[in-house]
Amino acid sequence: DARATTRARATRAATRPRPRATVVRNVVSDESPSDASTPRRRALASIALAPALFAAFDVAPARAATAEERFASVRRDAVELMRADADFGPTLVRLAWHSSGTYDRMGKTGGSGGGTIRFKEELAHGGNAGLDKAIAKLKPIKKRHPDVSWADLIAFVGVVAIEEMGGPKLKFSYGRVDEMDPEAVTPDGRLPDADKGDGPGPKTRQGLRDVFYRMGFDDREIVALSGAHALGRCHADASGYVGPWSGTPLLFNNSYFVLLKGLKWEPNPGAKKFQYKDPSGNLMMLPSDIALIEDADFKKYVDVYAKSQKVFFEDFAAAFEKLETLGTSGLTALG
Ligand code: HEM
Repeated sequence: DARATTRARATRAATRPRPRATVVRNVVSDESPSDASTPRRRALASIALAPALFAAFDVAPARAATAEERFASVRRDAVELMRADADFGPTLVRLAWHSSGTYDRMGKTGGSGGGTIRFKEELAHGGNAGLDKAIAKLKPIKKRHPDVSWADLIAFVGVVAIEEMGGPKLKFSYGRVDEMDPEAVTPDGRLPDADKGDGPGPKTRQGLRDVFYRMGFDDREIVALSGAHALGRCHADASGYVGPWSGTPLLFNNSYFVLLKGLKWEPNPGAKKFQYKDPSGNLMMLPSDIALIEDADFKKYVDVYAKSQKVFFEDFAAAFEKLETLGTSGLTALG
């Protein structure tokens, strides 16, 4: 049909090699953060250093001959944004996950394929509170890379953020074609709730399973993906929950599992919403996080990942790659 033809044409256009431009305007450093043997901690070390660079961010279109060059350039731009704003890396991971997490494998709707999370209609969904700011900050990158779809951009910067913050190397595939009509936005309610009204109880656990099974994940993958909560924090003006899960919220490691099982978590009577605190009062867990140690079928994987960061990284990488390709078709693996 006409729509499929347009999609196919757009995919071909997005993947066609571009002529090499003679003038490359790129104010962003040319060093490649991804190829270095130095861990991506460089992004963390330099986070405080470069707010001025961000002010100078250039929106002139970047030219690249190959998809590899194009995405390497996007990576450099994303790293600059992360350096300018320490909170941004974890938020990019949440953005990429929420872009994909609407997928319904029965109805074959939702997922990251159309980049619909950029529409105000989807940003208005309860679970997406605060992500409008992330989309706004990505706009200059999108402008500099008109050949990269919003859908690919959002999925890719999630990968970049995880890698730059010390996480596993992730496979990425491109070729998502943006939906142009907000009608493609799926109904609100497809993302998991941190609390179904019974804290970490059976309703909240069932809620997690309903959402992730709908996408095609199992209990092990639910736990592996939840390990991303090593990163970032809850914001009072977004979800209404407050605080970080770990003491190193810019480092992707297995600390979420170590802390979840190693510390004594108690309800925090000072918090606006029902959440947990550690004995120091500095760290937090959501009811849905605590659910993972109160349910034996989840808990066994918490134990595995607390013991082995290697196994966690392998399982997380596989699950995140799967998450980002749910509901997509005709993607090409980035070399
Ligand atoms: C298991 C069900 C999940 C629930 C109920 C949940 C809930 C939440 C909530 C309430 C926040 C705080 C948002 C804010 O206030 O800014 C948050 C943040 C975050 N979530 Fe999840 N999440 C879940 C799964 C995931 C998954 C699967 C990933 C990624 C693979 C993820 C990655 C993140 C990250 C990185 C942040 C921090 C964002 C920031 O610092 O701005 N979450 N999540």
